[in-house]
Amino acid sequence: MYVAHLSLTDFRSYDTADLGLEPGVTAFVGPNGQGKTNLVEALGYVATQSSHRVATDAPLVRHGAARAVVRCVVVRDDRRALVELEINPGKANRARLNRSPISRARDAVGLLRTVLFAPEDLAMVKGDPSERRRYLDDLLVARTPRFAGVRADYDRVLKQRGALLRTAAQARRGGRSGRRAENDAGFAAAGAGDPLSTLEVWDAHLARYGAELLAARLELVEALRPLVAASYAALAPDSAPAGLVYRGTLPEDTEGDGSDGSGAEAGPADRSVLEKRLREALAEVRSAELERGVTLVGPHRDDLFLGLGDLPARGYASHGESWSFALALRLAAYDLLRADGGDPVLILDDVFAELDSRRRRRLAEIVAPAEQVLITAAVPADVPPELAGARFDVAEGSVGRVR
Ligand SMILES: Nc1ncnc2c1ncn2[C@@H]1O[C@H](COP(=O)(O)OP(=O)(O)OP(=O)(O)O)[C@@H](O)[C@H]1O
Ligand SMILES: [Mg+2]
Repeated sequence: MYVAHLSLTDFRSYDTADLGLEPGVTAFVGPNGQGKTNLVEALGYVATQSSHRVATDAPLVRHGAARAVVRCVVVRDDRRALVELEINPGKANRARLNRSPISRARDAVGLLRTVLFAPEDLAMVKGDPSERRRYLDDLLVARTPRFAGVRADYDRVLKQRGALLRTAAQARRGGRSGRRAENDAGFAAAGAGDPLSTLEVWDAHLARYGAELLAARLELVEALRPLVAASYAALAPDSAPAGLVYRGTLPEDTEGDGSDGSGAEAGPADRSVLEKRLREALAEVRSAELERGVTLVGPHRDDLFLGLGDLPARGYASHGESWSFALALRLAAYDLLRADGGDPVLILDDVFAELDSRRRRRLAEIVAPAEQVLITAAVPADVPPELAGARFDVAEGSVGRVR
């Protein structure tokens, strides 16, 4: 697929912008702070209804304006679709497809598919586990939109369960210092509606949604592993090989029932087995959870370990290696989405300036065949000659095609 037209109203620094695009490579070139990333961020937002730079929508609306509108014409297999998104911070967004309103704006997610690499992605390699969990979960949702619901359900249950644990932890502390029973049994006997029996219900919900998420992540990591290794090797052939290991909070499976679940070296696992194991694990950590007031096992505490040879990438990889690893994660996502059904639009924000000339050349070779590649760069020299294509100069809030 490719974007044939992009138009913005009150998005970020733009009051209006209007540009026609073509398949192949397009570079947006201009000095810092002129609005290059803003353009590609708008496309990323249409694809996912979230920004790769900010967690809330307010910064996306031009300062002083009430709402922003992004319109784009998406061409897929010669069919054109006009996708329009109105961003209303603090309120529901509104979406239209071919000028007809879509009842839920979220249903417009996926009409445009993008894979966006940006400097922020370095956090996937250098940052907290939450960055890597987000990478996996965003990709799950991009491949199977239903997972947006599973993820939201899991988060909701986690939040409710957390509130309950905190209440129980407080009551427990109160009970200790007061006349109340000290042990769990005494607490559970306190009657209907007491936190512990309610907790059982939340355990079941948590295990159900958690297992669904976990099984999907494990399967995804299996699919990604060879793709990440290949992309990394193509970018950095002299470096140690890149590896991925899902690091779960479920204890290692000692019964040897064939599924290795999400222990230290997890592989794909059966959902019902994972659900059972999650429930068992929750029961095991129950008293620690009541002590601390937080849910201690489940996909919200898992990590995706990134390794280069025998060493972890985090804390050991050089800047260029970390950058290449982050890029390899995105290129692998691109490969997967592409295999699912058609080329997504590949967006590379400020990627080339950080790479040495060999890696630049390699990256150019890898991305050149993509149906549409959008690149931002501060100076024309940052765009490798292999990626010669259309060019727009971006300066002072205006975007002009260079002929
Ligand atoms: N909501 C907003 N309203 C008005 N201006 C904004 C808004 N959000 C961002 N800007 C402005 O947009 C500019 C940043 O644009 P952008 O990030 O696209 O720059 P860039 O061309 O990618 O620069 P760099 O080369 O440094 O990455 C900044 O000057 C910023 O002040
Ligand atoms: Mg930028």
